[in-house]
Amino acid sequence: MEPRLLALLALASVAFAVPIKVPQTNDCATQCKASTKMNYNKGTTYVYDYRVDYSTSMSGASEDSAKLTLTTKAELEVLGPCEMALSLRDTRLFHSDAMGGLKAADGEDNFRRGLEASALRFSYGDGAVEHICTATREEPWVMNVKKGILSAFQNNMDDLRTDQNVTETDVTGTCKTEYKAIDRGYYADTVRKTKDVLSCMDRNDYKTILQMVPYTESSDLQGNPLMKTTHECDQVIERGSYLKSTKCKETHVYRPFSNGQDGVTTFVEQTLTYSTYKQSGYTRKGSFWRCLFVNKK
Ligand SMILES: *[C@@H]1O[C@H](CO)[C@@H](O)[C@H](O)[C@H]1NC(C)=O
Repeated sequence: MEPRLLALLALASVAFAVPIKVPQTNDCATQCKASTKMNYNKGTTYVYDYRVDYSTSMSGASEDSAKLTLTTKAELEVLGPCEMALSLRDTRLFHSDAMGGLKAADGEDNFRRGLEASALRFSYGDGAVEHICTATREEPWVMNVKKGILSAFQNNMDDLRTDQNVTETDVTGTCKTEYKAIDRGYYADTVRKTKDVLSCMDRNDYKTILQMVPYTESSDLQGNPLMKTTHECDQVIERGSYLKSTKCKETHVYRPFSNGQDGVTTFVEQTLTYSTYKQSGYTRKGSFWRCLFVNKK
């Protein structure tokens, strides 16, 4: 199959429905809560392996299933309390061929260049991503990939050991989100984050991690509203320290086609895994950043 998916980068139009303001300072954060559950060291860059696997299938038509995989290294540079920069390295984009093997996707070079061109500044206070700041106007698809990564870093619990329901904003929109403490280890806590997708404000605008992969087929599906979506992530957080891993699963079932054919199901799996740290060589704080409001508890 010549994957239509790979008419890449046409991933248009996730408009920023967010106010843009130009801050007077070099800081992206407008406030900084004292850290209680997480603590990232200034001057350190935390390096994570990040992967998204995306597959779509039409039931009863296995030859029509298609897969895309994005891998990259996400480097989280700690510039100061609540001030972070996200840079991507070694980005690859694969699709599965007819034999099920992975091969480099068309447009991979453009894809990598777009994602690696600049660092994204954001404010990160004790797990909450509150603002995103860019030096230049980023392409919407670049922002989507990066916002997807930031959503994996996000944890809005007050206490990792106490279940809590919050309303939070990330790449998926503003949604009711349930946090559950599911495992309390000696060194690390594991929590489960589940979005109530029906609760998301402006559901027509529900974007999902599906958008983090270059994906044009969605236009085919627009006449077939989502029937069901689930979104669930498990996060492991080193006690009092940093995020060790996040694994998210998202499923979308689209309504059967009007001619009676079965519907379409898509699965997205997202994994962010801590690999190492390094001392930040130098810290660039740009003098002019545009701030995009994203989240306020
Ligand atoms: C969170 O919401 C879910 C679903 O409405 C409910 O079952 C659960 O008890 C709530 N948890 C807390 C801690 O309020």
